[in-house]
Amino acid sequence: MTEYTGKQWTELYHKNANEEEPLMPSEPLPFVDEITAYLNEYDHETILEAAAGEGRNSQRFVTSIPDLHACDISKEALEVCTERTEGEVTTRETDLRNLPYDDGQFDATIMLDALTHLREVELVLRELIRVTTEGGHVIFNMPVEGDDAESTSELLADWGALKEYEYRKEGHEVTYMFIGEQDRFTTLLSSFGLQIAQVTTWEWRDPPHPQYRLEEHDHKNIVVYARV
Ligand SMILES: C[S@@+](CC[C@H](N)C(=O)[O-])C[C@H]1O[C@@H](n2cnc3c(N)ncnc32)[C@H](O)[C@@H]1O
Repeated sequence: MTEYTGKQWTELYHKNANEEEPLMPSEPLPFVDEITAYLNEYDHETILEAAAGEGRNSQRFVTSIPDLHACDISKEALEVCTERTEGEVTTRETDLRNLPYDDGQFDATIMLDALTHLREVELVLRELIRVTTEGGHVIFNMPVEGDDAESTSELLADWGALKEYEYRKEGHEVTYMFIGEQDRFTTLLSSFGLQIAQVTTWEWRDPPHPQYRLEEHDHKNIVVYARV
């Protein structure tokens, strides 16, 4: 088991740096427009997209969010994000477990396809809450039972609210944290002062991404809209 999940990603991006294809698919995730509409409804303008990676979602967010910030642990991924958003996003290379932003700096924080890859889910959520203003939102997706990563990975631990899987293939190791029992996960969020405002369920199919998911695969995720 890799001790530090950020290392899995910096290595994946680094190995991929000379490839023509980005590491992740290029199209935004299917629920990005739903999130944008939600943010507009609340007039949220200053937004942090945490673990933005190569910016496949930022390229869509930047068209309607006036003040978009993006951070990631991978410098290489953020360079692609800057290109894709034509420099319209303020990027910062940082570790999500210790964000270099002020308390309450953002109207909302978004983290897509990334909380699942960090073993320290609680620590990262606390950081997202800290940098989000009171009354603002923390929005993220996570896989649930029925997602292919469950059947193609090994279950390492089941803590009730969360389950930890590891996908290992051809030398690559990727952590997948799943939401286990949803009511226990909701209780965990409330213990941090996060109130769930809305949950939507999404299922979609992704093509292989040659660097770490070698076959076409089905996703089943929930998108959590939580109020600080
Ligand atoms: C699956 S990618 C998702 C990227 C982007 N959100 C997307 O949907 O394409 C996961 C991202 O989390 C980032 N990451 C992993 N661990 C991190 C950490 N400790 N601090 C900051 N970013 C991290 C990786 O570098 C990677 O860009």
